[in-house]
Amino acid sequence: MSFKLLVSAVIALVVGYYWLNYVKRGPIYESDKKLDGRTVLITGGNSGLGKVLAMDLAKRGARVVIASRNLEKSSKVKDEIIKESGNHEVRAMQVDLEDFDSVRKFAKEFDESEKYLDYLVNNAGLTLEGMTKYGINRYFVISYFSRFLLTNLLLDKMKKQSAERPVRIINLVTFAYKYAEVTESGMTKDPKGFMDMFTVTAQTDLANIQFMRNLSRQNNGITTYNFNPGWVYTEGYDTNLFYEARLLFYVPMILFGQELHYGYQPLLKLLLDDSVVKYSSEFFTGFDHEELLPHATNDSAWEPLMKKSLEVTGLSSI
Ligand SMILES: NC(=O)c1ccc[n+]([C@@H]2O[C@H](COP(=O)([O-])OP(=O)(O)OC[C@H]3O[C@@H](n4cnc5c(N)ncnc54)[C@H](OP(=O)(O)O)[C@@H]3O)[C@@H](O)[C@H]2O)c1
Ligand SMILES: *[C@@H]1O[C@H](CO)[C@@H](O)[C@H](O)[C@H]1NC(C)=O
Ligand SMILES: *[C@@H]1O[C@H](CO)[C@@H](O)[C@H](O)[C@H]1NC(C)=O
Repeated sequence: MSFKLLVSAVIALVVGYYWLNYVKRGPIYESDKKLDGRTVLITGGNSGLGKVLAMDLAKRGARVVIASRNLEKSSKVKDEIIKESGNHEVRAMQVDLEDFDSVRKFAKEFDESEKYLDYLVNNAGLTLEGMTKYGINRYFVISYFSRFLLTNLLLDKMKKQSAERPVRIINLVTFAYKYAEVTESGMTKDPKGFMDMFTVTAQTDLANIQFMRNLSRQNNGITTYNFNPGWVYTEGYDTNLFYEARLLFYVPMILFGQELHYGYQPLLKLLLDDSVVKYSSEFFTGFDHEELLPHATNDSAWEPLMKKSLEVTGLSSI
């Protein structure tokens, strides 16, 4: 074998090793913590990150409720989780986060039939064009306003128990908040194409962060976390993404998208680890805690957003 060939082979091996272990894979969160008697609600728990998280938490003994639009799909996933985990405390419920009536109905049913809510994972979300009947685009309604509504409708339940049973709320967001200064301009716009979608994503993320900050600072035993998974290869990239992004991300996703099994590990840490509590209301990219940028901690921006959120969702107060 020539020297050149040998060098090439060594480089290929090193790059391959790095790619596999640090790009496609990553650290595993090691913990044998059990969650018997704890209740977790995961929106959109029938696919992607929500589904692998639901499976893991069921294996730890938690009571797991998954909720999304497609009940038939969720019921199949529920059966799959019960079969694999041996835990029968798994429930599938229906909610359409594009419709506030559906969110209200769901919250009522959950409140009346579930004794506790220890972990709320606001995970459902997808990136599509289009408007809702509220005059706000679908993205903002699904990924912010309905989370605002649902979380507030279940807040009393969480507050009541939080002295004895600390509550954690985790909101799935993206890095894009860094590029949004305001939240309002993107709400009423039907996003078309890449730039619009980015603006809307960024503003939704920022709104979520401001909401989580307010909740966390109410000091009622509820801690909140904004989680950006980074790039994880989920079903959503094939089905739930707007057209231009699907084209653009197709190859990079296969090359660089993290495998799901590794991508959800940081979520476990945010749910299970005591060390994260001091970062309540803050931002995580994967396992890494990141300081929020100053524009996201601007307290005077919350008041107008809160008013708008009450108005849009029809809540009277929080
Ligand atoms: N994967 C990534 O790299 C990445 C990066 C940054 C942020 N995120 C965020 O992480 C979250 C999960 O992403 P994923 O990639 O795991 O997504 P996914 O596989 O596409 O799953 C999305 C889930 O949301 C549910 N859903 C969609 N629209 C809904 C609606 N109107 N009402 C109720 N449920 C609805 C879907 O179930 P039904 O179809 O049954 O409704 C599905 O369970 C999202 O919020 C996403 O923005 C992901
Ligand atoms: C949270 O928001 C409510 C409603 O705007 C406000 O009254 C309260 O002072 C805020 N709390 C904190 C700690 O920011
Ligand atoms: C904070 O938010 C308010 C209200 O949106 C805005 O007027 C002000 O310019 C912001 N301040 C900074 C430093 O961004």
